[in-house]
Parts: sequence; C-alpha cells; structure tokens
Amino acid sequence: ARITLRQLLDHAAEQGYGVPAFNINNMEQVIAIMEAAKATGSPVIMQASRGARQYANDVMLTKMMDAAVEIYPDIPVCVHQDHGNNEATCLTAIQAGFTSVMMDGSLKEDGKTPADYAYNAGITRRVVDMAHWVGASVEGELGVLGSLESGMSEAEDGHGAEGELSHDLLLTDPDEAVRFVKDTRVDALAIAMGTSHGAYKFSRKPDGAILAMNVIKEINQRMPEMHLVMHGSSSVPQELQDIINKYGGEMPQTWGVPVEEIQLGIKHGVRKVNIDTDCRMAITGQIRRIFAENPGEFDPRKYLKPAQDAMIKLCKQRYEEFGTAGQA
Ligand code: G3H
Ligand code: 13P
Ligand code: NA
Ligand code: ZN
Repeated sequence: ARITLRQLLDHAAEQGYGVPAFNINNMEQVIAIMEAAKATGSPVIMQASRGARQYANDVMLTKMMDAAVEIYPDIPVCVHQDHGNNEATCLTAIQAGFTSVMMDGSLKEDGKTPADYAYNAGITRRVVDMAHWVGASVEGELGVLGSLESGMSEAEDGHGAEGELSHDLLLTDPDEAVRFVKDTRVDALAIAMGTSHGAYKFSRKPDGAILAMNVIKEINQRMPEMHLVMHGSSSVPQELQDIINKYGGEMPQTWGVPVEEIQLGIKHGVRKVNIDTDCRMAITGQIRRIFAENPGEFDPRKYLKPAQDAMIKLCKQRYEEFGTAGQA
C-alpha cells in the first residue's frame, strides 16, 4: 500500500530505525528496491528527482510506482519527490500520485544559488500548507550541501550549488533549524553536515573535521521529535569502485559516508537516508563486467539482470544495516 513519509517516519521514530530512500529512474531500479524490501520485510521510500521525471516521463514513472504497489501488496511504499525546486514541481508530483515531496529551498529555483532564510522558509511554508491540504508530506532543507574539506559547494551534473561557500552555509545551524521547523511545519528536515551528492565526497576516510555528525546530535537534542534526513549518504563502497575499475572504468579513488556514521545518525534522529550513487555504481559495475567478459552479448536482459541483482544486494544490505528490515 501507498503511505506518506510522515506515516512511515513516525513509525521509524517509534521503533528507532532509519529508512533508505533510493532514487529511481527506470524499471530495473524499481524492481530492485521492491525485491530487496520483500526479501527483508522492509517498508520502502522510492524517490524521483526532477531529472528522473524528465528522463522517464511522469506517466511512465507513476505507473511504475503503481505497479510496484500492485505487485507487492504487503509492502508499504512512500513515493517521494527528491529536491523539488519550486511550488509547481512539488504540486505536479502530488497530482501525479506522489505521497511526499521535498521542497529544497536551500537553493534558488536554478538549483545553484544559495537562498537566504526568508526565501527558504517562505517557499517551504507555502508548499507545506498546500501539501497538507491533500494529505501529502513535505521534507525541507536547511543548509547547503557541500564539502567541508574544500569549502566548495557541489557543482557536478549541473545540480547543487556552485562556487565557494562559507563554513556557515555548509553546516546547518541548530538554532536556525528550530526556527525553520516552527516557521514551516515540515514533516522532515534535511540538514547539511559535510556530505555532497555523487561519488566524490571525501578525499580520505571522513572524520569529524569533514563529516560533522555533531550537527545531527545538536539538532536532535533541541528537537528530539523531528525526523532528520541525510542527503548525499552513499557509502561509495571500495568493492564497487574496484569492480568498475577492474572492467575498464576510470573512477579516481574516493570515499563516501561510512555506514557506521549513518547508524550513529539513526541513533540521533536520522530517519531518512538518501542513496542514489551506490545504486548507480552497483548497476554500472555489473554492466561493465558483462561487456568485458562477453563482448559478443547484445541482449540487454543479459546485462540488466545482473545489474538489477547487484542493486538488490546493495538495497538489502542497507535495509539490514539501518534496521529497516522486519519493519514492513
Ligand atoms: O539529488 C541527487 C540525486 O542523486 C538525483 O540525481 O538529479 O541526477 O537524477 P539526478
Ligand atoms: P548520493 O549521491 O550520496 O547517493 O546522494 C543521493 C541524494 O542525496 C539524493 O537526494
Ligand atoms: Na529528498
Ligand atoms: Zn539529495
């Protein structure tokens, strides 16, 4: 059945677990998430970015979500708009059947320019009012994702803020977070603590200087009831980097967010953990392997099935690690 983010995260808070929110763009990813959820008895958050909606078309995407709910009737599924950039994106998602939206007002509509507090709180509050009229949930974001190592915000793939940012913007201020939640009435709050989107988060295994888990603890102390969201939470496993590079890939050595840090976050109020890059890498590793080992192969099912299987394995791991398993 379809459920809202609010319903799911309230349960997660009660039971003390976290829920990975995996991004979807195609059928294989939808099936991978649902198969992993079925195998582990986990509730699901599947989320689609604006890019995903453009890539797959709203009709295709929402019918795939409908199919997931119909094929797996026992699994609760929250369908979420990832990084909505304005009111229209959020409302058309709800209209298409999403049960939850993220209004990311930490950046202006262009997805690049850091926004001030008034803009963020204003646009987020408007989306919350409208979404709540029709029973949908809203995630807001306070603070801009980006690297504490370089002071650079993210600019890869044309999304994320551009240029150099002050330390202040890259770390959510706990007092401002309290004010933001009061002003907006969001159901969940995404925070900035040194993570960024994509594979290239850290140039070494992160410690407290470049991954500020203390921000989560402080916000959780001030607002123990608030559901916190960690973006940029792929772990970028060495094993997946190695498979990609063994079969012709050229990914420079990199580090993601260690699973133990996410588990620590879950102890301190993190309920939604966004993961896209790890799934992309699991898929890419297997496609590269099949192409390298069997260059004569041209039936897409022969490489998309192992790709899907690798994503199932990854999703199952995260469901187990975050305590989501057995909670459906
Ligand atoms: O926001 C980041 C997610 O990984 C979605 O990425 O905008 O390339 O679909 P995307
Ligand atoms: P990753 O790039 O770390 O997977 O982050 C995904 C994300 O935050 C989607 O909103
Ligand atoms: Na999101
Ligand atoms: Zn994100």
